Amino acid sequence: MQPTVIAPSILSANFARLGEEVDNVLKAGADWVHFDVMDNHYVPNLTIGPVVCEALRKHGVTAPIDVHLMIEPVDRIVPDFAKAGASLISFHPEASRHVHRTIQLIKSQGCQAGLVFNPATSLDVLDYVLEDLDLVLLMSVNPGFGGQAFIPSALDKLRHVRERIDASGKPIRLEIDGGVKTDNIAEIARAGADTFVAGSAIFGHPDYARIIRDMRDAIASVRA
Ligand code: DX5
Ligand code: ZN
Repeated sequence: MQPTVIAPSILSANFARLGEEVDNVLKAGADWVHFDVMDNHYVPNLTIGPVVCEALRKHGVTAPIDVHLMIEPVDRIVPDFAKAGASLISFHPEASRHVHRTIQLIKSQGCQAGLVFNPATSLDVLDYVLEDLDLVLLMSVNPGFGGQAFIPSALDKLRHVRERIDASGKPIRLEIDGGVKTDNIAEIARAGADTFVAGSAIFGHPDYARIIRDMRDAIASVRA
């Protein structure tokens, strides 16, 4: 299993002060910046694109930027995000006509590649592409909005993907996204996640350092 990563989703940050919010959450101990891209087509919401990613880099953010594309189609925008400073780019397989090609495109642009599975999306494509991936992202809410409740069936899915990643012997991360809180993060860790996205739980808390520390302590209690 890879070392734990806490990746706050800036979807729940104050967008009027985004640079400062990202600085603060990184100073508070976050590892990555989770960057949710929505297009009002693949999901019923509209958020941010490459110009905002580039603005964070120009602002001085050096931490990995974990771009979660909830857009369709995928390929046209991938090089733009790579140029804008994305570190990892993940997409939903049903949003790309040619999943294998999109993975290779992301890697050819110098980024790490991830595949994202909705709560009801089957993992079948992993039979063919798992070993090409740097990350598997399991959604524990339906994509589109922050602040939704964790869907418990994600736990079995995590256990299943954890087994497959371990069997592959490759350093592939297993990320969870949606409804992650201090009171469920231990069982999510126990089910096999090593990379934890949390939006409302972190940005909705008055003390970012405190909530991130509480999350790390809960994860450590499972690993010990
Ligand atoms: C939902 C996004 C998530 C969201 C998580 O489509 O992919 O990253 O911001 O928010 P919380 O942690 O509030 O469920
Ligand atoms: Zn996300």
